[in-house]
Amino acid sequence: MKVLVVGGGGREHALCWKLAQSPRVKEVLCAPGNAGTALVARNVGIAATDVDKLVHLAQHEQVGLVVIGPEEPLCQGLADRLRAAKIAVFGPSAAAARLEGSKLFAKEFLTRHRIPTAGFRRFDRSGVAKAYLEGCTQWPQVIKADGLAAGKGVFVVKSAREACTVVDQLMEERRLGDSGAQICIEEFLVGEEVSVLALVDGESLCVLEPVMDHKQVGDGDSGPNTGGMGVYSPVALFNRRLSWQVEQNVLIPTLHGLRREELDYRGVLFVGLMLTESGPRVLEYNCRFGDPETQAIMRRWKGDLLPYLLATAQKKLSELEAPEWDPRTCVGVVAASEGYPGAYRKGDVISGLDDAARAPEVVVFHAGTKLSPSRSVLTDGGRVLCVTALGDTVDDARSRAYSGFDKIRWDGKFGRRDIGVRHATARTF
Ligand code: AMP
Ligand code: GLY
Repeated sequence: MKVLVVGGGGREHALCWKLAQSPRVKEVLCAPGNAGTALVARNVGIAATDVDKLVHLAQHEQVGLVVIGPEEPLCQGLADRLRAAKIAVFGPSAAAARLEGSKLFAKEFLTRHRIPTAGFRRFDRSGVAKAYLEGCTQWPQVIKADGLAAGKGVFVVKSAREACTVVDQLMEERRLGDSGAQICIEEFLVGEEVSVLALVDGESLCVLEPVMDHKQVGDGDSGPNTGGMGVYSPVALFNRRLSWQVEQNVLIPTLHGLRREELDYRGVLFVGLMLTESGPRVLEYNCRFGDPETQAIMRRWKGDLLPYLLATAQKKLSELEAPEWDPRTCVGVVAASEGYPGAYRKGDVISGLDDAARAPEVVVFHAGTKLSPSRSVLTDGGRVLCVTALGDTVDDARSRAYSGFDKIRWDGKFGRRDIGVRHATARTF
């Protein structure tokens, strides 16, 4: 069968790479893809948000499954449009994707279904929000724009003054457009963060291996938040007791909530959790695979991915055994362009990719890259590559990943040097 992967980041490269290994997949198409997906798939120059053209492409190419990577097309209803055209699709409906597309919808869903999360208040007028903040005695507080903001809509604020400035920027100046028309102000939670992903077909779920992301741009978790600067999996601190708690208190109630509210969820549910002293609490839902979490998950996934994605699309997940995992550790280090997560450089020539790929157990996934007319690989985004490696221990995987990372060069390349180090220092819960 032909499979179409929608998107063009590192997550999509990892999905294309894994799907291309399936004996049942004749061809992988990727729209729009990047220089890395071009190595394992046929790139088609259609934007991930061009819903009409994507539906037409899927019909014209007679693809057997569409896998939707990013959140925007999901929130725009790409999955609904494909289903209406009788095409199997891995990705939730627009109504269900509101779990990611609206922070307030997600918080109210969590409350309705008694799923543990941070306490919150909803505001649609800046004056009321500021009056509330002036009266707060507990700091920090967390302010979240309701709508999609490409990871730029969450602010941890330490004083009423700082908080009121953020409220004005979001609600008056509309720095994030309509996404900031309503906001959520929530309690600041303390603990370790972990990402848990589960395939959900509306009736059952299949929990994937947990992954630890590193959100902040600098070593030792310093500097502003990013989409994720590196990952490791498995996560030692996420022990069996925690995994049981998350399944019982978060995942199963979420599945029941989706069913009760008749939300058509057939895709991957990504739960960002804070492991607090009073147990795991939900920070956010995403309705898609994480990036760079997916790169680590695909490296550790043994066997064929296609049957799982197809069964999710067809509501047949319960017919499959749990997937098998490579017991080794995967570490993934993101190589980014100077300036990221702010304004960054683009168009620099990347060298050393082949050398890095020859390093033992290393696979380099592309994120923001493109091919020049002379076929050299150029930087084309803030997060450019994710260098992944497997190893028997975190230290083995780390040193392999960094030896691959260090072989790659371009002007302005940078990355964190401490991915996986926290593993050793994380306290237990
Ligand atoms: P989100 O997009 O909601 O995951 O938020 C982005 C990041 O902000 C999270 O990964 C956390 O590091 C931080 N964050 C969000 N909500 C909270 C909270 N209630 N308490 C502490 N940190 C938070
Ligand atoms: N790495 C976090 C995300 O994909 O949202």
